Amino acid sequence: MTTTRSVDDALTVLFRGGVVAIPTETVYGLAADADSEAAVRRVYAIKGRPLDHPVIVHVSSVAAMRAWGDLTPLAEKLAKAFCPGPITLVVPRKPRAESWITGGQDTVGLRIPAHPLTLELLRRFEGGLAAPSANRFGAVSPTTSEHVAHELGTDVDLVLDGGPCEIGLESTIVDCTGDVAHVLRPGGVSVEAIEEAIDAEVVVGARDTAMRAPGLLASHYAPRARVEIIASPNDAKVAEKSRVFDASDAERGEVAIARELYATLRASDEAGLDVLYVVLPEERGLGRAIADRLRRAAAPRLSGTKA
Ligand code: TXA
Ligand code: MG
Repeated sequence: MTTTRSVDDALTVLFRGGVVAIPTETVYGLAADADSEAAVRRVYAIKGRPLDHPVIVHVSSVAAMRAWGDLTPLAEKLAKAFCPGPITLVVPRKPRAESWITGGQDTVGLRIPAHPLTLELLRRFEGGLAAPSANRFGAVSPTTSEHVAHELGTDVDLVLDGGPCEIGLESTIVDCTGDVAHVLRPGGVSVEAIEEAIDAEVVVGARDTAMRAPGLLASHYAPRARVEIIASPNDAKVAEKSRVFDASDAERGEVAIARELYATLRASDEAGLDVLYVVLPEERGLGRAIADRLRRAAAPRLSGTKA
């Protein structure tokens, strides 16, 4: 596995049907040609991800989105307000979004990432790139090229290094199939910003319980260390080896906390911690997404696995 800053090299690998880790403003993605079943299957295999979990298609423009899905009036509005940016629009799929992308559902998730290298890559690739976060299933998402190299090693053909991710949390996933916006996963675009853009209230949660939305898995984004939620930094027990991550610290601000979050979870494993104590932020703005990830990191794990 090589790390490069060359978009040319990344294109060569993708055109050959290979798998490239790509930088985005949210987290690094594990990308493959969305039109190639074999290439996308390899992404699933590398992640160890169940095949019925849909994957987001990344494209470079709103026009390109229309090749993969039907943009509803709600999706058009959100695309205009936030794309490129940390938002994923779930819309009715077009035939090009095959079952290896959608996990057999009739919708597709579409996103235009706001990272100059990846935008150039997407423009020149012309097709779409299927890209889940570049981590093993259930583990912490990578926010630097080093995280990817450390976790996936030679399983990935190439890592395109675009520096540390600016936001550090995944995109906000919005179900745009109906008239009302449903946030399936809080992320880089806040619920408040969406409500302002569409001048309507947003529902946090799935419209249809049959939808394979993120959140069905309680334990996710989990380091090996146990994560325990406490109400105040003073509540940390004197455990063998522990640290406190105070995500409620208003002085540091939510943007900085979001950016540090996953690196902190990873560092807790490097330091060999038994417990990472976390204080949740207020549930507004980016705080909603930060709290969501910390709750999932703290959720009970299936015996010995991270589900
Ligand atoms: O910021 C992001 O969104 C990153 C970067 C790489 O773009 N990608 C990412 O992908 O987080 P992933 O696969 O790790 O998480 C996407 C989530 C999954 O839980 C998947 O189930 C859900 O989005 N998803 C994808 N398509 C969907 C659809 N059509 N309907 C409902 N949920 C969908
Ligand atoms: Mg993920």
